[in-house]
Amino acid sequence: MAYTKNILITGGAGFIGSHLVRLMLNKYPDYRIINLDKLTYAGNLKNLTDVESAPNYAFVKADICDRNAINDVFEKYEITDVIHLAAESHVDRSIEGPMEFVMTNVVGTVNLLQAAKDFWKLNIVSSGGNVFHHVSTDEVYGSLGAEGLFEEVTPYDPRSPYSSSKASSDHFVRAFHHTYGLPIKISNCSNNYGSHQFPEKLIPLMINNIVHKKPLPIYGKGDNIRDWLWVVDHASAIDRIFHDGRLGEAYNVGGLNEWTNIDLVKYLCKIMDQKLGRAEGESAELITYVTDRAGHDMRYAIDATKLETELNWRPSLQFEEGLDKTVDWYLENAEWIDEVTSGAYRDYYENMYQDR
Ligand code: NAD
Ligand code: TYD
Repeated sequence: MAYTKNILITGGAGFIGSHLVRLMLNKYPDYRIINLDKLTYAGNLKNLTDVESAPNYAFVKADICDRNAINDVFEKYEITDVIHLAAESHVDRSIEGPMEFVMTNVVGTVNLLQAAKDFWKLNIVSSGGNVFHHVSTDEVYGSLGAEGLFEEVTPYDPRSPYSSSKASSDHFVRAFHHTYGLPIKISNCSNNYGSHQFPEKLIPLMINNIVHKKPLPIYGKGDNIRDWLWVVDHASAIDRIFHDGRLGEAYNVGGLNEWTNIDLVKYLCKIMDQKLGRAEGESAELITYVTDRAGHDMRYAIDATKLETELNWRPSLQFEEGLDKTVDWYLENAEWIDEVTSGAYRDYYENMYQDR
């Protein structure tokens, strides 16, 4: 079959990437989806078992820093478009070891940009025009005080090694547009939650610890604020921006859903007490205040007006409903959690909290 697009999705075995691969395979049978992933601790092909036998799906295990491997993929699959999600994504790990973040998030991104630029210059591979969509974060804008929202025009002010590496990659993506005319789009999204998120991030870590009656580590006073979006809604926003967003533009993605960490964890405890048949207040007794994260950003909050008005995108779920579905997924998929939290993860996690 001749496909209308051959889309390279990087990081498709990770949390957001697997939701995006699923959406694209289900919605666009005339696109071929090539998922390229190094399968780090955060990547797991079991995230895709329900769609991996689709005839229009291919998986390639490779590192985005490996230029030869990337060139081979562009040639073999005649890549028409890229949606780039592969990254080191956890702030705490970036504080412990920034270099891995520089390699994957900065060097790997520039490597992909070069490969796309060179391949698309020599090969006319798409009738509809090529797109390099870079998936980024709102953390590039820095940290807010009590008022205000991040807009697309907010100056970049990254403050953690993770956000610095993502900001750097965003700058390179823009530079390839301005310098070489590469057809790029960027999306900057707020914190995601949902199924298949590695249980080092706040929500799945807390769910897992509540289940096992382990301490719930709240950094600092728990008054830091994050703006949460259901991962499926992020995937739908990427779909919309990839298809209809303007070239060279950035779009913020978010659903106006701010929570302090402590309120969120208390709410999780409450709904999980009900689901697990525990007495009201039992899980909240596990809350333990621990040393704050170094350089902890106070507040993130996204203004997604541009995406809503220009591309008519809206989130589909209220947070309470999305969180309910998410908790149910983790409770029904204990094997998935056991698998991803065995071995190296357990060593990492236990060392980390011994230091706190
Ligand atoms: P994740 O850590 O769950 O997944 C990352 C994936 O990238 C994994 O499958 C991993 O194996 C792969 N990967 C890592 N290094 C690689 C390399 N060198 N070569 C090839 N593959 C590699 O991350 P996520 O939460 O799904 O985030 C995906 C993207 O979305 C990232 O770019 C992240 O910065 C961005 N983002 C995440 C959030 C969030 O809340 N999680 C919010 C906004 C933006
Ligand atoms: P996280 O999920 O790591 O996302 P990010 O740092 O990219 O926003 O953390 C979300 C918030 O929760 C952040 O303010 C740090 C806090 N946090 C805790 O209080 N305890 C934890 O164990 C974790 C992982 C995070």
